[in-house]
Amino acid sequence: MASKFVYMDYNATTPLRPEVKDLMKDALDVYANASSMHESGRRARAEIEKARAQVASLIDASNPQTVFFTSGGSESNNTVFMTMYHLAKKGTRKKIITTAIEHPCVLNSAKYLQDEGFPVVFLPVDADGRIDMERYRKELGPDVLLVSVMAANNEIGTVEDIAEIARLAKENGALVHTDATQAVGKIPVSVKAWNVDYLTMSCHKIYGPKGIGALYIRQGAPIEPLIRGGHQEAGVRAGTYNNLGIIGFGKAAELAKAELDEYREHVGALRNRLRDKIKASIPHVRINGHPEFVLPNTLNVSFPGAEGESILLYLDLAGIQVSTGSACASGSLDPSHVLLATGLGPELAHGSIRFSLGKYTTEEEVDYVAAQLPPIIERLRKMSTVSAEDALTQH
Ligand SMILES: Cc1ncc(COP(=O)(O)O)c(C=O)c1O
Repeated sequence: MASKFVYMDYNATTPLRPEVKDLMKDALDVYANASSMHESGRRARAEIEKARAQVASLIDASNPQTVFFTSGGSESNNTVFMTMYHLAKKGTRKKIITTAIEHPCVLNSAKYLQDEGFPVVFLPVDADGRIDMERYRKELGPDVLLVSVMAANNEIGTVEDIAEIARLAKENGALVHTDATQAVGKIPVSVKAWNVDYLTMSCHKIYGPKGIGALYIRQGAPIEPLIRGGHQEAGVRAGTYNNLGIIGFGKAAELAKAELDEYREHVGALRNRLRDKIKASIPHVRINGHPEFVLPNTLNVSFPGAEGESILLYLDLAGIQVSTGSACASGSLDPSHVLLATGLGPELAHGSIRFSLGKYTTEEEVDYVAAQLPPIIERLRKMSTVSAEDALTQH
C-alpha cells in the first residue's frame, strides 16, 4: 500500500460523514417497525418523518409527503420508467425522450421500453455534454409521455438546463423526470424552480449511507409501484422501513443543505487549482465537460497517448483513487458512452480520467495529485504508438 491516500472519486461514492455516522450509531437502536402502532413504532415513524422533511427541504419541496424513500438512485429511476411502461401500454402518449449520456440505470430502463416496442429517443449532446435543444424541440409533440434528462452528468459534470427542458415539455403536456443523483448536495436543486414531476436522488453521494435514496413525485403525478406489498410509502414502495438508512439520509440532507455554499466554494477552488496545474504541466490535454455549466467538484481530463486504465493503476500505486471514463464490461474495455456522445474519438475517450473532489479534499492533496501525474503521463506516452498531439487533433 502507498503511504499516501488521496480519495478523488467522490462521484462514485462518498465516505460517511462523522455527524451522520454518530447519529446512525444511536439509530441502530431504533429497531421498531415504523408501521407499528405502539409507542416505539410511533417513535421510529417520527424519526422517519423528520428525515423526510429534511430531504424535502434539500430539494425545495414544500410538501414532505412528495418524497418517497427507495433503495437508491437506480430504484428511483426504474420506478419512473416502469410507471411509464404501464402508462404507455394504456394511453395514447407512448414516446420517451431521454439523452445519450444518462446513467446506465436510466439508459437500460429506456432500452427496456424500446425493446417492448415503445418509441424512445436518446438525444445527442454537444461537445460540452449539453443536450441538443433544437433536436429536442423537434422531438416534442402530443405523443410524448416522458422527458427524462439528468440534472448533472456523473462522468463529466455537465449541468443541463432542467427548468427550460421542463418548460418545453410541459408546453407539450409531457411528464418530466430528472435524475438529480449527482446534482443534489453539489448545486442548488429546486423541484419548484425546475417544475419537474419526478426527481431522483441517492444518499451515498452526499456523505450518507448506501442503499438508501428517494424519489420526489409531484402531488398528483401518476406512479406505479415497482415493489408491491404493504402500505409503506403510501403504497408507492412496499417493504419495512429502512430506519437506519432513512435517519442517516435525513441528517446528510440537512447538512448538505446548510453547507451548500461553503461546499461549492471549497471544491470549486480546488477543482480549478487541479485543472490549472494539469494544464500548465502536461501538454496536449483536453478538459471534458462544460466550462461553465458544470458541477463544482468534477474534472474530467483526456490525456491522449496514455491509456486511462494504466493512468488509473499508476495513480493507485501512488495512493490516489480516481475513475476512468471506461466501463470494464465482460473483459472488454468499452470507451465511455458519455465521452463518445460528446464526439470524442475512442483514442481520447480511452485516455480519460475523472477526478471528483469532495468536502474532505485538501489543497495538499490536489498538489500531490498534480505532482504525481506528469511523470506518469510522460512514461505512458513514451510507450504509446500514437502521438498525443495527433490523437488530440484527430478528435
Ligand atoms: C447519475 C446517477 N444516477 C443514478 C445512480 C445510481 O444511484 P445508486 O447507486 O443509488 O443506485 C448514480 C450512481 O452512480 C448516478 O451517478
